[in-house]
Amino acid sequence: MTLLPVPDTAVIVVAAGSGTRLEAGAPKAFVGIDSRSILRHALDGVFAAAPAQVVVVAPAGHEGDAESELRAAAGDRAELGRVVTGGATRQESVAAGLAALWGDVTVVLVHDAARALTPPALIDAVAQAVTAESGAIPAMPVVDTLKRVDGEAVIGGVDRSELAAAQTPQGFPRDLLEAAYALAQAAGTEYTDDAALFSAAGHPVRRIEGSARGFKITTPADLERARLLLAAPAPARTVVPRVGVGTDVHAFGGEGSLWLAGLEWPGEQPLSGHSDGDAVAHAIVDALLGAAGLGDIGEHFGTAHPEYAGAHAEVFLARTREILAEAGFGIGNVSVQLQGNRPKFSPRRAEAQDVLSGILGAPVSVTATTTDGLGFPGRGEGISVMAVALVVPDGSRTV
Ligand code: CTP
Ligand code: MG
Repeated sequence: MTLLPVPDTAVIVVAAGSGTRLEAGAPKAFVGIDSRSILRHALDGVFAAAPAQVVVVAPAGHEGDAESELRAAAGDRAELGRVVTGGATRQESVAAGLAALWGDVTVVLVHDAARALTPPALIDAVAQAVTAESGAIPAMPVVDTLKRVDGEAVIGGVDRSELAAAQTPQGFPRDLLEAAYALAQAAGTEYTDDAALFSAAGHPVRRIEGSARGFKITTPADLERARLLLAAPAPARTVVPRVGVGTDVHAFGGEGSLWLAGLEWPGEQPLSGHSDGDAVAHAIVDALLGAAGLGDIGEHFGTAHPEYAGAHAEVFLARTREILAEAGFGIGNVSVQLQGNRPKFSPRRAEAQDVLSGILGAPVSVTATTTDGLGFPGRGEGISVMAVALVVPDGSRTV
């Protein structure tokens, strides 16, 4: 175990309330927000802030539960934490926490476990705002219009520019806070928060900007709000898909069968070429490589690569898929059009699309057209193909 320097700051996390307004059937601190309890979230925040002694004030009978939460949140800083038993009021619970402070502590923060989502940066900011003479609290502007009321009667307005909603942690110089607590206990006065008790002893309190996440979980609606905040997805990253185009032309000629769009076409005139002359497959390869900016078919499969001589579509396309995957690209889809008089494509379109889609693991559609007798496809000299491919960076196929 590493011995940490003894901190001069302590955080008292008061968690001894019963949570009557939450109506959750258990002490509020142990009610789950997600898989973690209110207390665990509060302690996660405290331990993410600058190192401090951490005193958890637990409801009587629940000290063991608090100890487990403390240990889970503290990780290898467990020696900074301890659990004490709370009292009947919040003020008594804070007093129990004060009694457990180490001698070296000079600055004390008092924090409600119920403000479970308070950002660690706010905890640090409060600690830094405390001086030897003054306390510091986070506070939020009041946004609602406020009314002074008497029963059902609205008696008048309240100038909200003079008001702020106090949060925790509230920070104080230890010696003055202890003296103020002694005074309050001697007088038997209950204050609504530590800042009020500290002010009543004649000490100044400064405010710093609070945090919207520092709200107190009091009612079931507050718990729902905390749940929604924790469930909010991380901001979506914009993935821009990339498009590529590829063309290929092969003349009819040579021996053997025609290979086109990954299929063998018995009885049809073959296409000549370095491989099997499958112009559909070759156009697709260029479209995919072009979309990903990974060169072209000549670079990866040209005559410098004799291993591909006579190879069929499956070999080219499977390797292209691999090249893209290695570079972090997923394939969105491919659309291909071939121009030529023969073969008559539509009877085997579904079969061709299945084969090509299967190899690439993404939808491939193939259309075919004649050119009204014009050009080399129209004269029956060969086939011309154009392919368009969509690829997505980071291997994601979600577009
Ligand atoms: N608290 C405490 N000891 C008490 C009463 C309250 O430690 N005797 C703590 C609560 O655990 C909470 C914080 O003070 O973290 C703020 O109190 P509040 O939100 O009022 O919590 P509860 O008193 O538990 O809730 P309720 O008033 O609805 O019963
Ligand atoms: Mg209460």
